[in-house]
Amino acid sequence: MVREWDPRTASPAEIESLLDTLNAVLAADLPEDPPWQDSFLREYQSETMPGERRISWLAEDESGRLPGHANVLLLGDIGVVELFVHPSMRRTGLAQTLLTKVVRRVYDEGFSAIGVEVVGGTPAVAFYESLGFAREYVETRSVLKLSTVDWLAVGETAGTIGDGYRVEYFPGGPPDELIEGYAVAKAAVRDVDDGDLDLRPSSYDPERLRDSLACLHRRGMKPYIVLAIHERTGAVAGLTEVVVPAQHPTRADQYDTIVVPEHRGYGIDRALKARMLVELRSAEPRLTEVQTWNAPDNEPMLKVNAELGFMADREWYEYGADVPDLLHRLDPKT
Ligand SMILES: CC(C)(COP(=O)(O)OP(=O)(O)OC[C@H]1O[C@@H](n2cnc3c(N)ncnc32)[C@H](O)[C@@H]1OP(=O)(O)O)[C@@H](O)C(=O)NCCC(=O)NCCS
Repeated sequence: MVREWDPRTASPAEIESLLDTLNAVLAADLPEDPPWQDSFLREYQSETMPGERRISWLAEDESGRLPGHANVLLLGDIGVVELFVHPSMRRTGLAQTLLTKVVRRVYDEGFSAIGVEVVGGTPAVAFYESLGFAREYVETRSVLKLSTVDWLAVGETAGTIGDGYRVEYFPGGPPDELIEGYAVAKAAVRDVDDGDLDLRPSSYDPERLRDSLACLHRRGMKPYIVLAIHERTGAVAGLTEVVVPAQHPTRADQYDTIVVPEHRGYGIDRALKARMLVELRSAEPRLTEVQTWNAPDNEPMLKVNAELGFMADREWYEYGADVPDLLHRLDPKT
């Protein structure tokens, strides 16, 4: 049976069963990834940015177990889907049933585009392609094992930056007086159209940035920020963001790294990332890995990541589909 589900009022047993299914999925499809913990899982599923909504569904079997889950985040003009089915229940049509619920709802809410992140080398590729989803964007995920880091070299790099710049570290997020400059730095690269579907959009104005940081905290995801400040003007010349999620605190996620175009060529990217690693090492003793996603044509960033010891792990895709077409395919009566 598939039913709509509200994580805010879900029972602890439901949260636990969902976690079991998620970890079975990870063990089957991404066995190198750390299993998730029951920490902030309810908040992870229920908290959203202002103006965004997440709608969720569960599949329940006769014994009350939850072998399937789907949710869609309605943001801007696109619905972003997450969907997984327990390995023991695959190829029974369950994902298709769940997705039909999602797509009908997205259609009823007036959205015409739907997107999904798909991990390369997993059955999800065949699933979404069989339904006519098109691959719109490819990234490579790379993982850095902290045990392989040359801490002496990284410590030196952390202190090396072009004259006229300084690096500052802000666990939890930047102070309010720097939010404006931080947003300006993010906006400086906003116009680069890299062809992705914006399934994980960045925040470019100060208010949205504050909301975004608050939302991360509510979801149990602690942001760490390192900024490069241009000393003469006080401008934010570069930034890097890493998030340590309570759900898998041994593996952190690299979010944006930005060097504002006019400040490129001064070693800022390298210095920011090195400083971040040094700080994370003492702030997060449980942390063993950091993962990052890069477009294959972002050569400068790939070079710095390779120097730090990041190793390419998987391809990561964004797939998209037109909602009316997809609904018709899933339910030809429509
Ligand atoms: C992708 C996924 C949701 C598919 O679930 P499912 O319940 O097995 O899918 P369905 O039974 O509804 O399959 C529908 C159709 O998709 C296609 N399909 C699904 N899995 C396939 C596979 N492994 N190989 C080829 N085609 C496949 C088939 O056309 C299938 O129809 P058929 O069985 O009649 O041939 C499931 O494999 C899954 O949970 N993957 C993990 C997704 C995820 O979020 N991962 C994140 C961490 S890795």
